[in-house]
Amino acid sequence: MYNEKVMEIFKSPKNVGEMENPSAVGSVGNASCGDIMKIFLRIENNIIVDASFLTFGCAAAIVTSSTATEMIKGLSIEDALKITNKQVIDALEGLPAQKIHCSVLAEEAIKSAIDDYKSKL
Ligand code: FES
Repeated sequence: MYNEKVMEIFKSPKNVGEMENPSAVGSVGNASCGDIMKIFLRIENNIIVDASFLTFGCAAAIVTSSTATEMIKGLSIEDALKITNKQVIDALEGLPAQKIHCSVLAEEAIKSAIDDYKSKL
């Protein structure tokens, strides 16, 4: 069901784990499957210098978390807000149609973390 690239990332996802003293944390859940994703950001001078995640969810949710956290490292918070689940899916060379909703979690978790950051400014 998953392509090779997705399987490769699933076997060794990047940026897994809770971050110590993050600048911001975003947490979102998918009501239909009950999966939860948490994203941790370290932000310096408006730039995301580090990102990590904890995902209690399916393979697609783990793989999209890994890819999304890789994609936002080095971006300004404004540019990170522009990352869409479609871009994450493209970077993964596709996801099965029934797994597209899982990739939305990553986009939403990034937005939630950035909202958290802005609320503390
Ligand atoms: Fe819940 Fe994929 S099935 S996030």
